[in-house]
Amino acid sequence: MPGLGTDTRQGEERVKTSFAFSNAHSDLMGRDAESVLGWRYEPRIIFCRGAGVMITDVEGNDYYDMSSGMMSMVLGHSHPELTETIKEQAERLVHESSWYSNPWAIEFAELIGSTLPGRLKRVNFAVTGSEANEVAMRMAIGATGRFDIVSVIRGLHGGSLAAEALTTVGGGRRQGLGPLTIPAAANAILPPFCYRCPVNLEYPSCDIGCLETSEQLLEHITSKQIAAIFAEPMMVSGGMITPPKEWLPRLKELAASRRALLVLDEAQLAPARTGKLWGFQHDDVVPDIVTFGKGMGGGMAISGAVTTPEIADQVSGNTGLPWSGTFPGDPLPAAVALKSLQIVLRDNLTERAARLGAFLRPRLERLKERFECVGDVRGRGLYHMLDIVTDKESKTPDSAMAERVRYNAMLGGAAFICVKNFLRICPPLIVTEAELDDALARLETALERSEQGHPKDIDFATSSSLAATGRPARGNAN
Ligand SMILES: Cc1ncc(COP(=O)(O)O)c(C=O)c1O
Repeated sequence: MPGLGTDTRQGEERVKTSFAFSNAHSDLMGRDAESVLGWRYEPRIIFCRGAGVMITDVEGNDYYDMSSGMMSMVLGHSHPELTETIKEQAERLVHESSWYSNPWAIEFAELIGSTLPGRLKRVNFAVTGSEANEVAMRMAIGATGRFDIVSVIRGLHGGSLAAEALTTVGGGRRQGLGPLTIPAAANAILPPFCYRCPVNLEYPSCDIGCLETSEQLLEHITSKQIAAIFAEPMMVSGGMITPPKEWLPRLKELAASRRALLVLDEAQLAPARTGKLWGFQHDDVVPDIVTFGKGMGGGMAISGAVTTPEIADQVSGNTGLPWSGTFPGDPLPAAVALKSLQIVLRDNLTERAARLGAFLRPRLERLKERFECVGDVRGRGLYHMLDIVTDKESKTPDSAMAERVRYNAMLGGAAFICVKNFLRICPPLIVTEAELDDALARLETALERSEQGHPKDIDFATSSSLAATGRPARGNAN
């Protein structure tokens, strides 16, 4: 639990009401602010260790890592087998020219291909999720000879400039960037966001009206020569939008009817987090290209775009493909990612995420019933989100309250990620029911304290995504 500030009694529990940091910790926070340009929450806690579902700050205080780092540590921190793999690989080969291959990249690519449906067998490695999506754009342009790329409003596909052009989660991400050059046309599809329906209809009588309106938008906004439609099978950053079951199959039909490729971005979802190995396996759809990042690396920076041998052969030698760069497919990240995916499959973590999701969901629903500021609960498996609002009736997003909840939870020893009014619950897939219960109890206390208006003396204006809502741009919110 974090450093003690003032303690107050609440029932049997001692509830911390403020942080108190050691001089050494405060010194590091100050030096971080001075010399590292980075996106930071308030307070800028400095971490130095992690084990399982816990992360530990430089003073030795433990916190539940309820975001799996940046949604990446699917096996938790310092997993013994991954640590062993890192050590062994460090002694063998860490880096090589990306114009040669290595056994671990080959085996990782083969394993990925074996888990995907259809002919999705060929992996072009990259380092970040943004880069993987740029590779997918190159593939789509190369395969179709067209330039319009369409994405779903409220989607997030990365922060490199072309990926940013597909990204529409709002906030300050695009502030000051001017015109984003490619793709030619983006963001034309309305999100299947039933809680705040973009066309004011109700599911199921709507008959997925958002998609019908989107077709009209495509007619008018694009050149009608569409290379690809990009989508997240569950739209995480835009509000954990979990589409109705008809949506993705119909999106696929829409893409096919325009002879556009369907690209599904799994950076947030694979492997296993939603209770399926790949998030799109909740729906009966096979995309033309799948991109992955974050959790597929087991904590290492490795990503990729997977497509069919036919598309891969068609685009090779064109549009800068295959993508190479300095680090893609390097031995160290490939060996760790391979081991991590093998463990996910061996330990059946997909089934575990589904089971624990069924454990988690009713507990979150109870928080919704109890607290006025919890407007909605959405998600799948071990990836859920609270939609924080001013009140249930108006559903008005309340980002300041969400940030307050995150702060109070941190104070109580549970680190959640919160972007805008969305508070995410995304623990490592190895979490136990007891750990989930304990972390949720801390979240409940945080909600109580937040509805009582605590903390009273903190300005959250520069914390997290609030820094990017109407103030000068301060970075990216993932
Ligand atoms: C769905 C999705 N795709 C792509 C990205 C970009 O990944 P990266 O930050 O590794 O570039 C993100 C980032 O959070 C994401 O949520």
